[in-house]
Amino acid sequence: MPRRQSIHGHWSSRLAFVLAASGSAVGLGNIWRFPYITGEQGGGAFVLVYLLCVALVGLPVMMAEVLLGRRGRRNPIESMRMLSEEESGSGKWRLVGVLGVITGLLILSYYAVIASWTLAYVVEAARGAFTGADAATSRQLFEALEKDPLRMLAWFTLFLATAGWIVARGVAAGLERAVKLFMPLLLVLLLALVGYSLTTGDAGAAFAFLFDFGSHAIDGQMLLVAMGQAFFALSVGMGALMAYAAYLPQQTSIGGTAVTVAAANTVVSLLAGLIVFPLVFAHGLEAGQGPALVFHTLPIAFGQIPGGGFVGALFFLLLVFAALMSTLALLEPAVVWLVEQHDLRRGVAAFAVCGFVWLLGLATVASFGDVALLRLPHGGWYDMIEHATSNVLLPLGGLLIALFAGWVMCKNSTVEELDMGVGLRYDLWRMLLRFVAPLVLGFVLVCALGLCDAR
Ligand code: PHE
Repeated sequence: MPRRQSIHGHWSSRLAFVLAASGSAVGLGNIWRFPYITGEQGGGAFVLVYLLCVALVGLPVMMAEVLLGRRGRRNPIESMRMLSEEESGSGKWRLVGVLGVITGLLILSYYAVIASWTLAYVVEAARGAFTGADAATSRQLFEALEKDPLRMLAWFTLFLATAGWIVARGVAAGLERAVKLFMPLLLVLLLALVGYSLTTGDAGAAFAFLFDFGSHAIDGQMLLVAMGQAFFALSVGMGALMAYAAYLPQQTSIGGTAVTVAAANTVVSLLAGLIVFPLVFAHGLEAGQGPALVFHTLPIAFGQIPGGGFVGALFFLLLVFAALMSTLALLEPAVVWLVEQHDLRRGVAAFAVCGFVWLLGLATVASFGDVALLRLPHGGWYDMIEHATSNVLLPLGGLLIALFAGWVMCKNSTVEELDMGVGLRYDLWRMLLRFVAPLVLGFVLVCALGLCDAR
């Protein structure tokens, strides 16, 4: 089959794609969500299930998603329509793309709110609010932000406007260079913080909590949450990687790239766990307290170290940057779809999509900020959208991608696109994609919809 070309050009190299894909993958999902979900799930056994989910389901589905994106070379909806017509004679699998666009926007409606907390903390750190912080003051600091919905709204608007501006100007490619500098810097800071936490916090308790894999029984609910977290952290299941892979050079190895991105991503999550939990146990914080966990913990660390105000501000700034790169990936499917299929200018498309996300996000702000007028139960809206996106929509997208690439697409097409021969590695990938992924994801979805007694 003659190769299609992307109408927007290509990444300059394999490294450029690895950087963009890791930039999209590493974000709040690793540093904010992984520790709090692990805390809620009781550690050990959950961490093991998580690692298995990444290796046995997340990675093969990630490869499939990249494969589909590069073969289609258009926005996810159009790519899926074309591939579906080629492989099955009907375009109905375009729904995978539609689902991805919707999922991305729903995720963003709360992701940008959490990113706005991070942004607020840059300023808090810089003005010295962390100095000498203990568990109580750091809790007060966070509650003050939560109780001030207008302040949250202002940061939320600023964050989304910045992302929209970057997308509109089409300067995302320029950010590639920034990723090269910022991601290693973030890694260095994370390592330094791990060192600090392990030496001053309760390292023994943290290790036991995270790595005592037999800590408690594994059940369906835990598998569901681990799967959702794996997809969320890897940016798999909603077409973001598909959209990015449309610009991937033909000769780049998909398998090698996916392994690099997944491994780097998982390391960052584990480092975040090693920062948060020694402090949690040393300062009597509650591991399962939910989304505020990182915001209750990190100020304590920055409050104790010399120059903590500066280091803290830098850390939260890097986190904002990581969240921004993920945000661009969450926006990409919707924006390229509007540009390619509806002939909108990039700027108009970016404005429309961000405006829509902003409106949706108001509900998240209100549900955290206790806006009396709306009387949403605290965190209720967030819990609902969060559950629907991570535990239902991402696994559903992943399931459909696995079914399409594993069962609908003919074997030759995947062999050709993956370009790694038909040896053991290919067979393993195909077996995981055709059998393991659909079975696990099918089970998880049944549990998510409350149709099985998961406990
Ligand atoms: N993986 C990103 C993070 O960990 C979030 C994300 C999910 C980005 C899905 C794109 C698509 O923060």
